[in-house]
Amino acid sequence: MESATDSWPLANAPLDGGIDLQCLQQQLLSYAHDLSATLKHLRKAHETLNEVCLATLSALAAITEARDPYLAGHSRSVAMYAQAVGLEMGLPPTQMESLQHASLLHDIGKIGVPDSVLRKPGPLDEIERKLIREHPEEGYRILSGLRFLGDALMGVLHHHERYDGRGYPRGLAGEDIPMLARILCACDALDAMTSNRSYRRAMNIEQATAGLIEGRGTQFDPQVVDALVCVLERFPFIESPIAPIRATSVLYDTTVAVCEELFSAQPHVRELRP
Ligand SMILES: [Fe+2]
Repeated sequence: MESATDSWPLANAPLDGGIDLQCLQQQLLSYAHDLSATLKHLRKAHETLNEVCLATLSALAAITEARDPYLAGHSRSVAMYAQAVGLEMGLPPTQMESLQHASLLHDIGKIGVPDSVLRKPGPLDEIERKLIREHPEEGYRILSGLRFLGDALMGVLHHHERYDGRGYPRGLAGEDIPMLARILCACDALDAMTSNRSYRRAMNIEQATAGLIEGRGTQFDPQVVDALVCVLERFPFIESPIAPIRATSVLYDTTVAVCEELFSAQPHVRELRP
């Protein structure tokens, strides 16, 4: 039968000067214990740092949204849908984190758009549209000093590109558009469709799903639409249309439930709670 010292690799090593093997073993175990404690401490510090980082990014998003009553909660909702889609598509943890950051910050460039344009009730003229279309690049410019954002920056810059190449700011098409941006594009559209605007009422979930499917392969990445529709199909109310005025909050609450279910199988992903 194998003894404890037989399995210890130093047990068979040549020893000079009669080193006490037991003492050496205890010393190494003590180092291992210290390393384990340090690692635990570092993990805790990393978690705290992530929480602070997420709270800061959420506060930045809230500043932008405070300027437009129709944008209230938009980034948080987009983050929730995007996370559900990311999990459905099997994105790795690092991409999930970048997706979360990009979702929260995707419209931060609107901070540079004048109130008269941002809050205008009704259609925009050409100059106003041009100002709005600058927000992805403006957002990228504002955030580009935050190196830790990594791939999230590309999500912010390209979230208005279309799969058929007719989007902005670069007119990228298909898989040339970063994956995070393709996910954001569809989730952003979903939240916009299911939210009230000054010039139209919110769509219900069936209408919004039809809108996503209509844009499959033109505005949106087909793979992303399939994942998003799959997530939406889990909703119990899909068979019974809800009042448009409640669409956003009901959709959001239900997505929280879906995400909790998905997150429980993916403990490495932090939850976004209301
Ligand atoms: Fe946007």
